[in-house]
Amino acid sequence: MLKDMPLDKLSRPLRDLRVSVTDRCNFRCPYCMPAEIYGERYEFLPRNDLLTFEEITRIVKLSTQLGVKKVRLTGGEPLVRQDVVELVSMIASLDGIEDFAMTTNAYLLSGMAESLKKAGLQRITVSLDSIDDEVFKKMNGRGFGTAKVIDGIAAAKEAGLDPIKINAVVQKGINDNTLVELASWCRDNGYTPRFIEYMDVGTLNDWKLDEVLPASEIVKIIEGEFSVTPIESSYRGEVAKRYRYKDGKGEFGVISSVTQPFCGDCTRLRLSPEGQIVTCLFADGGTDLRGPMRSNIPDEELLNIMSGTWSNREDRYSEIRTSMTSPRKKVEMYHIGG
Ligand code: GTP
Ligand code: 5AD
Ligand code: SF4
Ligand code: SF4
Repeated sequence: MLKDMPLDKLSRPLRDLRVSVTDRCNFRCPYCMPAEIYGERYEFLPRNDLLTFEEITRIVKLSTQLGVKKVRLTGGEPLVRQDVVELVSMIASLDGIEDFAMTTNAYLLSGMAESLKKAGLQRITVSLDSIDDEVFKKMNGRGFGTAKVIDGIAAAKEAGLDPIKINAVVQKGINDNTLVELASWCRDNGYTPRFIEYMDVGTLNDWKLDEVLPASEIVKIIEGEFSVTPIESSYRGEVAKRYRYKDGKGEFGVISSVTQPFCGDCTRLRLSPEGQIVTCLFADGGTDLRGPMRSNIPDEELLNIMSGTWSNREDRYSEIRTSMTSPRKKVEMYHIGG
């Protein structure tokens, strides 16, 4: 079996599959799905274009034969996909998956946490950019306060969907003055926050380098309040750099995709809601699997397409960003998840 595991052109194995189950979201974070563009009339993918649960499960199953051990459901917002709990149980019943997680904004989580856990989801990561109600209201583009999200996270803790990680994208001048507050709240509740450098994903957020707060600065801000020390990563290719509080009250991480890219260890493949496999967060497109699946391609051939796509991969966008001169076409973040 092992001899068939593909390596890409930079000798990176395939380990993670990130499955975007919908392009829809109940938030309108300005850096991801600005409300002016994604209004009432915006046409999201029609239902028939979305992969069915059977199609998704088939791809996940085959991907385990190519080396995937870690699966993450994402979106858009995965909890807005109808009957997503059923998909969770279909994936959870497959062999070979050691880590099965979901990234969610947690707005709908309080009523679903227990059934997700029962269906076999192991843990969740919540996108929460600020615990300050006013800042959060602005950052989700919908004016939603933090209460429902906090309830959702508490329900996940109660259900045992842990360890719980909290992802906060840091934007200079927008939420950088609320990082300590978020870190404190996480410390008190046993969650691990990861502060993420704001990236130039997609084409809609009019990204500028001067809006990025470098991870080194983020660490300084946290160090200004708490005594911390760096710790080893928990697995090869972990995107977050970890720090532990010296008083033993947990840890936090920083994700430095802009200032210190980590493409060298990137073992992630993404599956879009309409069935394309995408080999980089910054790719301009992907390889369609839905067409072949709907023309009844056998597993062996589908596996060959997937394996061939990985073998041909040479992406390392974050490492070469600065040397690229002209803007290029890119897939949008909400389409393939973070
Ligand atoms: P764990 O398995 O819990 O360690 O999560 P993870 O390391 O897979 O990270 P997660 O899925 O929570 O991603 C956190 C953030 O890191 C994302 O929202 C992105 O902003 C960034 N990120 C994750 N994967 C990549 C990647 O492949 N490339 C780049 N440039 N950024 C990434
Ligand atoms: N830079 C960094 N992270 C981003 N995310 C969305 N857009 C960006 C960006 N421009 C993150 C979200 C969430 C995950 C799905 O991707 O905050 O944690
Ligand atoms: Fe939705 Fe996440 Fe995008 Fe915000 S960042 S609009 S929560 S998909
Ligand atoms: Fe992987 Fe592309 Fe991100 Fe680099 S930029 S870490 S290759 S997804």
